[in-house]
Amino acid sequence: MTALDLSSPVAVVGTGTMGQGIAQVALVAGHPVRLYDAVADRAREAAAAIGARLDRLVEKDRLTAAERDAARARLTPVDDLAGLAGCALVVEAVLERLDVKQELFRALEGIVGEDCLLATNTSSLSVTAIGGALRNPGRFVGLHFFNPAPLLPLVEVVSGFATDVTSATRAYETARVWGKTPVACADTPGFIVNRIARPFYAEAFAVYEAQGADPATIDAVLRESGGFRMGAFELTDLIGQDVNESVTHSVWQSFFQDVRFTPSLAQRRLVESGRLGRKTGQGWYDYRDGADRAEPHTAEKHQPPAYVVAEGDLGPASELLAMIREAGIQVREEEEDHGTRLVLPGEGQLALADGQTSVEFRDVVYFDLALDYRKATRIALSASQDTSPQALSEAIGLFQALGKDVSVIGDVPGMIVARTVARIVDLAHDAVAKGVATEEDIDTAMRLGVNYPLGPFEWSRRLGRSWACSLLDDLHQRDPSGRYAPSLALYRHSYATEKREGAS
Ligand SMILES: NC(=O)c1ccc[n+]([C@@H]2O[C@H](COP(=O)([O-])OP(=O)(O)OC[C@H]3O[C@@H](n4cnc5c(N)ncnc54)[C@H](O)[C@@H]3O)[C@@H](O)[C@H]2O)c1
Repeated sequence: MTALDLSSPVAVVGTGTMGQGIAQVALVAGHPVRLYDAVADRAREAAAAIGARLDRLVEKDRLTAAERDAARARLTPVDDLAGLAGCALVVEAVLERLDVKQELFRALEGIVGEDCLLATNTSSLSVTAIGGALRNPGRFVGLHFFNPAPLLPLVEVVSGFATDVTSATRAYETARVWGKTPVACADTPGFIVNRIARPFYAEAFAVYEAQGADPATIDAVLRESGGFRMGAFELTDLIGQDVNESVTHSVWQSFFQDVRFTPSLAQRRLVESGRLGRKTGQGWYDYRDGADRAEPHTAEKHQPPAYVVAEGDLGPASELLAMIREAGIQVREEEEDHGTRLVLPGEGQLALADGQTSVEFRDVVYFDLALDYRKATRIALSASQDTSPQALSEAIGLFQALGKDVSVIGDVPGMIVARTVARIVDLAHDAVAKGVATEEDIDTAMRLGVNYPLGPFEWSRRLGRSWACSLLDDLHQRDPSGRYAPSLALYRHSYATEKREGAS
């Protein structure tokens, strides 16, 4: 099944933020595009706004003046839904309400031909439920664009329970011809991106709620150590706390209040108090004129230790040994069956975050996971009230000698990056096992949809597949609510890996 012919007309219903973006994409690809909005004149205004954006593309040399003129001539606002007769595809981007969308599609079925593909851009409603209102739900599909649609490449092509393969394939191929990167997914809450990204926000908020660190420190660690483009606090201030919370809430409700998706109390308080982020001048941060910029906690200079003793294998952090040597600090390696730690001269120990707390051991300082220890510019350390000042000081001095800023956070098991990545990896495995999407499409979706530096499966392969499961097991023992319980899929995966490794 091929993509829609570029000569066939495409309709966009609802010409707000998303409708305008989607219309621009279809138009620039070459289709004649018709716009309809329930509010009088809005489709005409949208056509003018799209025209102005095409002008800017010409100024930036991304479109020729002739191409712009031709595109403008292909764009038609219509005053009546009946004006969409003869379209080959209708993409709906109206109000996010099931009854409104169902009523619209019921009306459209009486207007467009039998072979017209019908698509919704819904973010949080069930494609199956919207399609349930149709006589022929087989031709109904989700086409979930991201905002701003002309710039962001990802499109989730969502098959509802009744969507036929031909329609899904046609929508997928059409998105590709439009220059997008489509991924196929099943109709489950949050589709791919909004489902698997939840822990990115939830774990940062949880560390904050546990008094582990302040937003500026958590954001800095996520960026400078985790390799994420933005931290969870600054990103939700940009998105809008109300918008971000409503996605979380909808995913949580749609999964029948699954504890893994529980919304954050701290975020609730922000929303209740009207601190919605940049748009209201205050969110997690203060954006008002003259407000102080919040800085992350960064430790003062400490002396590096003269040597460290490496016991066993540091796993995902093993690159640190070479870096420590290069910094002129002696590394004595000792074979230890069970050890995965660096012993410091004062007998304190440094261990990679593993889901346990520092207080459970004598003088253990945990360090957080980094995407790449060489490129990381900051490392978080966690210690308990019982950790000796010498152990903490030597640990800080060691990472400073490697050129890192050091943030000391509270004794939070799994720290910041490690628990976040482990949960993302877990949800990704769970999603594949539940038939939501393939590993490859999930990796693509998370890289393109939310700019993750690695897809969850790429990350999982780098970390060793039992790493996330073992960390979550430890977290689950310390918080038995079920929030951290590794999924059956992750268990299966890590045990299969262990067996394979044992056999080889
Ligand atoms: N904004 C985002 O970041 C984003 C991203 C992905 C998906 N979505 C989804 O896209 C859809 C639209 O979101 P938006 O942000 O563009 O909303 P918006 O409020 O900017 O625009 C909605 C438009 O739909 C019109 N409308 C409402 N009911 C209508 C009807 N019955 N018939 C015709 N037009 C009608 C409104 O007049 C308005 O112009 C929603 O389903 C939303 O969940 C939004």
